[in-house]
Amino acid sequence: MARLFEGALKNWKFVLKFLVFSVVFWLLEFAYQFYVLEPENFPSALIRSFAFSGATFIGLALLSSVLFKFKPVYAKYWHVRRSLGVTGFVFIIGHALSVTLFVFKGDVSQVFFSLNPIENPMIFGVIGYMVFLVMALTSTDWAMQKIGAARWKTIHRLVYFGYFAAVFHFLTINQPALFNLAGYLLLAVTFLVLAGELYWFVKIAGKNKFSTLGAKIGFLLILLYLVFAYLVFFAK
Ligand code: HEM
Repeated sequence: MARLFEGALKNWKFVLKFLVFSVVFWLLEFAYQFYVLEPENFPSALIRSFAFSGATFIGLALLSSVLFKFKPVYAKYWHVRRSLGVTGFVFIIGHALSVTLFVFKGDVSQVFFSLNPIENPMIFGVIGYMVFLVMALTSTDWAMQKIGAARWKTIHRLVYFGYFAAVFHFLTINQPALFNLAGYLLLAVTFLVLAGELYWFVKIAGKNKFSTLGAKIGFLLILLYLVFAYLVFFAK
């Protein structure tokens, strides 16, 4: 067990500060939902505060990858990216649990009332959840060593597909919930992530004339975004 959390134990001062920052961030999101947006609606405040905190943290983790490419000297702060990603996923566990408990009264099967993600955006959420679960489980120093750097990198590239699913989940499930400060922060982070990823895709894959496997996967992802944007926002 101690080996599993070796990295976190070595760096306990940073972990503690990050934990305090995360709890304060979530408390602010919760207070905003509970006192300002929908006063006294505890289940909704819990579901949404976890949802916005989780999605914002996961977005910030991806944004830090974009920034590290602009300023490689900051790559030494890669542990901040890991903390953002793992804490973001912990918030998302809280989100999924509170949805199951308060909306579906513990009956998980209701989440799957339709398997079509356009009819039931929770399917996008479940896909994102599964991908982020794999990311979180393979994020300890111990797991990284066991898996090996090359395979770890391949597994973690799945995050682009998980993020695609998460973005379509929160853009479509309940749009009015996005038009407030918490939503604008999430939308701004999401826009910066997608714009930054596109910029680096064109710059890096373009150098090799888009001939690598990575470039093909990148094009597939862009196609997925375009097709689903059309299906969800225009063809419905
Ligand atoms: C098991 C998987 C998931 C389920 C069952 C689920 C379910 C839901 C439901 C029912 C809502 C609507 C809540 C409301 O309007 O009060 C919601 C909203 C939201 N979810 Fe999820 N979700 C899941 C995974 C995720 C993931 C992986 C993310 C992002 C990383 C996410 C981010 C959000 C956000 C930001 C909102 C609020 C924005 C909006 O309503 O459009 N969810 N989710």
